[in-house]
Parts: sequence; C-alpha cells; structure tokens
Amino acid sequence: MAETLVTIVRRLADGEYCSGEALAELCGISRAAVWKQIERLRQHYGLPVEASQGKGYRLPYPLELLDEDRILAELSPQGRFLLQHLELLFEVDSTNRYLTDARAQGAQGGQACFAEFQSAGRGRRGRPWVSPLAGNIYLSLLWEYPLGPARLSGLSLVAGLAVARTLRRFGARRVGLKWPNDVLWQGRKLAGLLLEVQGEQEGPSQLVLGLGVNLCIPAEAGRDIDQPWVDLREVLGEAEPIPRNLLCAKLLDELLIALAHFEVEGLGPQLEEWQHYDVYFGRPITLRLGDREVAGVHRGIDPSGALILQDQAGEQRLYHGGEVSLRG
Ligand code: BTN
Repeated sequence: MAETLVTIVRRLADGEYCSGEALAELCGISRAAVWKQIERLRQHYGLPVEASQGKGYRLPYPLELLDEDRILAELSPQGRFLLQHLELLFEVDSTNRYLTDARAQGAQGGQACFAEFQSAGRGRRGRPWVSPLAGNIYLSLLWEYPLGPARLSGLSLVAGLAVARTLRRFGARRVGLKWPNDVLWQGRKLAGLLLEVQGEQEGPSQLVLGLGVNLCIPAEAGRDIDQPWVDLREVLGEAEPIPRNLLCAKLLDELLIALAHFEVEGLGPQLEEWQHYDVYFGRPITLRLGDREVAGVHRGIDPSGALILQDQAGEQRLYHGGEVSLRG
C-alpha cells in the first residue's frame, strides 16, 4: 500500500474530522490529490470515509490499527514461547497465500501474520472472504505436525472452539459453532476458519490456518458477502469500542496453544465443550456433499471430528466433509 494512503489512514484513525488542507500538508500533496486518495480508500479498500464541507474528512468510528508491540505484550508466556515470528502487513492478497509461499521458501512452523487489508481473501469452498481495510481481523498461522494429513481431521474443530471461546470471553455470549468450524451468532456468520494442509501420508504435515473475524464491516462491503453475516460491533452493541489489538493477541494465543495441544491429545478432551457450542445439535439438518444432499438429525461429532448424522431409519453415519444447513 502506498505510503500516502497509510499516512491518511493513520491520521483519520481517531474518527475526528481532519481538513483536506491538513491532510495535504501532512502528505506533501495537493488537496485534489488528497481527494483522489480518499476515493481510492473508499472504492478499493472499502473504508467508509465521510466528507463534510468546511470540516474535511473523517471515519464514522475510530479505528484501532494493528500494533505489534501491543499484540506481543498481551500474549501469555506459553503463547510467546510457541510463537516463532510475527508479521504485520498493511496490505496483502491473502495472509494464507502469504504464509504458504513463506513455507515453500523454507519458513518454519510457529509463524503468524496479520493484515489490515486483503485484496483476495480466501474463504472455504473457493469463496472469497470480504476483507475491507482496518476494521476486522485477518490472521494466518503456519504450523508443522509429525502426523500425516488424515490424522489432522479434528484440528479444524479444535481451532473453531478456540475462536468461539475467546469471542465469548470478550462478551459475545451467544456465539456458537456450526460443524466443522463456522463461528455463528444467531445464525449469522461472525468468523470463519480456512485450514490448508499439505504433507506426506505418514507425516510430516504443514498447516496454514487462516482466521477471519468480522469486527466492523462497512455496509458497502457487507453487500458483497453472500451469506448472512454479523460483526462484533453489532454483537456487543455499538457503544463499546472493541480493543482490537487485545482481541488479536488473545485469539493468537488461544490458537497457538490449541495447535500445540492437538498434537498431544487430539480432539477427544474437547468433545464435550464443542458440543456445548454446537448450534445445530439434535436438530434436523441437510448435509450437502457436492451435488448430493443427505438429510437427517445432527447427533454430534465423534473423536475424529466427523459429523454424526442419523437418517430416517434411525441409522447413524459419520461424515468427514460437506456443508451443513438447517432444515425446516
Ligand atoms: C470461511 O469461509 O469460513 C473461512 C474464511 C477464512 C478467512 C481468513 S482471513 C485470513 C486468512 N487469509 C485468507 O485468505 N483467508 C483466511
């Protein structure tokens, strides 16, 4: 991202008006050039900058920009020990793609990266992940396991649980999980995880785990999201500012610890807690598997992370993939 744009974003982050003249002076450009940059922030970066005659430009809410020192300071001793390297990027196509490339160039496990903006954020099933500038959390983590990829099937559930648990601690009380790892609030998506695994059949495996959390989605950007969504600002009530760096640190901490524990104990010890968060447990669901659909009652998950579906004849089957939706 061009330095001028970063300077403007930093100057407007307090949510107060700043005149075009002051921005022009700060950046060493003309007022017309400031206006062009503001348009770029709106159109390309999805930042809802407001303009008022005589007052200048402002954001409708203050932004807490990512701050490496603050994130590191809030990690637990265990989290700090597990984290090998932390990177903060202003702009990237996708943090998952970034760490996948880093891995190909020899990066070791334990690396994490946050970004303020993703131009090509990736969601599950090839969907885009709408990633406007500076309001949300886009995090990826690189991890290595001695196990083969097939043994990591419960990992995405463990990761989802770590996220849901952290968000509840931040006051999002009715947050729940939809198998395998969608984080929902009243049926609307609040956060999503994308796990990309490579490896040898017998191990080792390399994992890139990506987490996106909606903290503050501007209305314009929200129109591009193709499923019901919610942001943490709405969940918590708009009056309370979200301590973004603190939340980044706690999510990173929980995920680092969850990834490390998984190698030792798998999903088993967390099954009960997962069920407690499971929003569709005991309810009639449809599981979409490519072009095929199976209907049944959701009877929970097994220790490998598979979904247990009971059909009309009362028989229970395990499913390792597919997309769940509620019936009726
Ligand atoms: C989903 O579809 O539910 C998964 C969304 C995962 C989005 C995150 S944002 C950080 C990381 N980088 C990406 O490109 N995707 C993941």
